[in-house]
This record gives sequence, C-alpha cells and structure tokens, in this order.
Amino acid sequence: MRVLITGATGLIGKEIVRLCHKQAMDVHYLTTSKSKISNQQNYKGFYWNPKNNEIDIQSFENVDTIFHLAGATVSKRWTSSYKQEILSSRLEATQTLVNALKNNPNQVKHIISASAIGLYPDSISNYYEEDHSKGDDTFLSNVVKQWEAAVDEFSNLNMMVSKIRIGLVLSNKGGALPEILKPIKLGLGSSFGTGQAWQSWIHINDLARLFLFVYMHHLEGAYNAVAPNAVSNQELTKLCAKVLDKPLFMPNIPKILMKLVLGEMHTLLFLSQRVSSKKIEEAGFEFKYHHLQPALEALLK
Ligand SMILES: NC(=O)c1ccc[n+]([C@@H]2O[C@H](COP(=O)([O-])OP(=O)(O)OC[C@H]3O[C@@H](n4cnc5c(N)ncnc54)[C@H](OP(=O)(O)O)[C@@H]3O)[C@@H](O)[C@H]2O)c1
Repeated sequence: MRVLITGATGLIGKEIVRLCHKQAMDVHYLTTSKSKISNQQNYKGFYWNPKNNEIDIQSFENVDTIFHLAGATVSKRWTSSYKQEILSSRLEATQTLVNALKNNPNQVKHIISASAIGLYPDSISNYYEEDHSKGDDTFLSNVVKQWEAAVDEFSNLNMMVSKIRIGLVLSNKGGALPEILKPIKLGLGSSFGTGQAWQSWIHINDLARLFLFVYMHHLEGAYNAVAPNAVSNQELTKLCAKVLDKPLFMPNIPKILMKLVLGEMHTLLFLSQRVSSKKIEEAGFEFKYHHLQPALEALLK
C-alpha cells in the first residue's frame, strides 16, 4: 500500500506521514524544495514545480491514493500579490496533478484533498454542515470554492474525490496554537473582539487520523474536519491560560487594532464559524479529542 502526499513537509503532512508509517504504509511525496528530498525506503521525495506544470511522474509508481495538502500559507500578510499566490499555488498544484494523471498511465484511484472551513460565511448563529457549500464573497471563501472546484476535476479521470474542510488545527509544533500562546505565556493574553466568535478546532492527531479514515473507508465527497465541540474565542483563550496556569486580566483586543497591525489577514482571528462534525462521526470516525481542555492538556503538558 503506497500513498503520494503533496505538502508532506508541512505541519499536517508530517503528522499524516507519521501515522502512515505507523500503519506500515509507504509514502511518496512531492516537494517544491529539492533540499527536502529524502530517499528512504518508506519515505521517498520527488521534485515538482507546479508553477511550470513540472512533476516527476515516477512519484505515481504503485500509488493508489493522493493526499493533497500543498499550498502557500495563509498566515502571511495578505498583500494583493500574496493573495494571488495563496490562490494560484493551490490551483496550479491541483492542475499539475490532473494533467500528469490524465497524460500518463497510472493506478491512482482516490484523491483526498485538504480544504478549509474558511468556505463558510462568518456567523455567530449558523451551524455548518457540508451541504452548505455556496460560501460568501470574502477572499477566503472564494479561494476555497475555486480550490474545491479544481479538485473536483479529478472525477473526470474516474477517481474518487474527497475534500477535507479543515478547522483551526491545534499542534505544539506550529500553526496557530504557538502564536495564540505567546501573549498568554507573558501574562498578556486576551480574547479578540467580543470574544463570542466560534472557533472550530481539531487536534492534529485527530486530523491525521481522519485523513487515514477517509482513505481506509473509501469515503467520497466533502467532510468537515473539526472536533465535535467548538468553543468561543473567549473560551479558547481562557482554557489556554488555565492549562498553562497563567492569569488572564487584559481587556479584549479590538478588531480595529488588529486590522491596523495585520491588514486584511486580521479576519482570520475574528471569523466566527461553528462547524458540525456529524457527517464524519456518522461514517464511524471516533475522535480522541472531543473537548478542548483535554486536547490542550495533551499538547501542552
Ligand atoms: N493548519 C491549519 O490550521 C489549516 C486549516 C485549514 C486548512 N489548512 C490547509 O491544509 C493544507 C496543509 O496545511 P499545513 O498547516 O500543513 O500547511 P504548511 O505547514 O504551510 O505546509 C504546506 C506545504 O505546502 C507546500 N507549499 C508551500 N507553498 C507552496 C507553493 N507555493 N506551491 C506548492 N506547494 C507549496 C510546502 O511543501 P514543500 O516545501 O515540500 O513543497 C509546505 O510544506 C494547506 O493547504 C492549508 O491551507 C490548514
């Protein structure tokens, strides 16, 4: 059993690779950095440059499924040229895979692509299930819609297509959590805006398990990847402080201040999305981390 992973060297990719190896699965991966290529028996890297539609088709050898995670990070200031990079990196990477699979004999049957809950409109009251796919006209929602539409192209190659709409990933190795913790560790933690915005989070280990679950059970379509119990931004800040045993006395940070500091990217901190995990649970997936406090304790203690 062998899978091909794009974005394998990133935060989520590394955890998926770790779980694949635990299950004795071989991993091939595509990387845009020649320096990240390694050549072990169960972890073999291949170079690609999606900007030029360049890909090493040896990477498809004996692969039945692709985990597709590659894309430029959204956690960098959203200048107009960088916004273009966020979108084009995802579309070009997807198109490069589609072209290569279309034009070369292969046995790949299934693509499981990352997507994001950034698709769903900002709302305090809505509870989003997967059928709510129209999104809204914000930058992130438009990126996700175009990214998912590009991924749907694989169905024209008679492949199964799965889209994993990922929430706020909690890891102690990178991503949002270490950034959230920085001010709290200094005793300067506070919530954003009213503190009421919903944060639909997932522990990184559950997320990697969920990708493998979709693979093993041949699940098709869109699946939200969030833990069953979303929390408010205030609750998230309070629980981080509690688990770290730090005080929390600062006033909430106003939206206007973060807009000045971060520009348009500040929306990442203020968006409210309460997202349902029902569909993947009904398919039989069991979360290890249902509630935030044990998830934080597992990561931080
Ligand atoms: N982390 C989250 O909270 C979260 C939430 C929702 C959705 N997601 C999505 O899940 C995917 C993986 O997330 P992550 O947190 O693991 O991201 P990450 O740590 O930033 O890793 C992404 C990987 O994509 C590759 N990459 C970066 N820029 C690229 C470009 N311009 N063209 C092609 N490949 C590029 C890199 O691999 P190489 O250097 O090896 O090429 C990188 O290791 C992303 O698409 C992200 O949008 C993440």
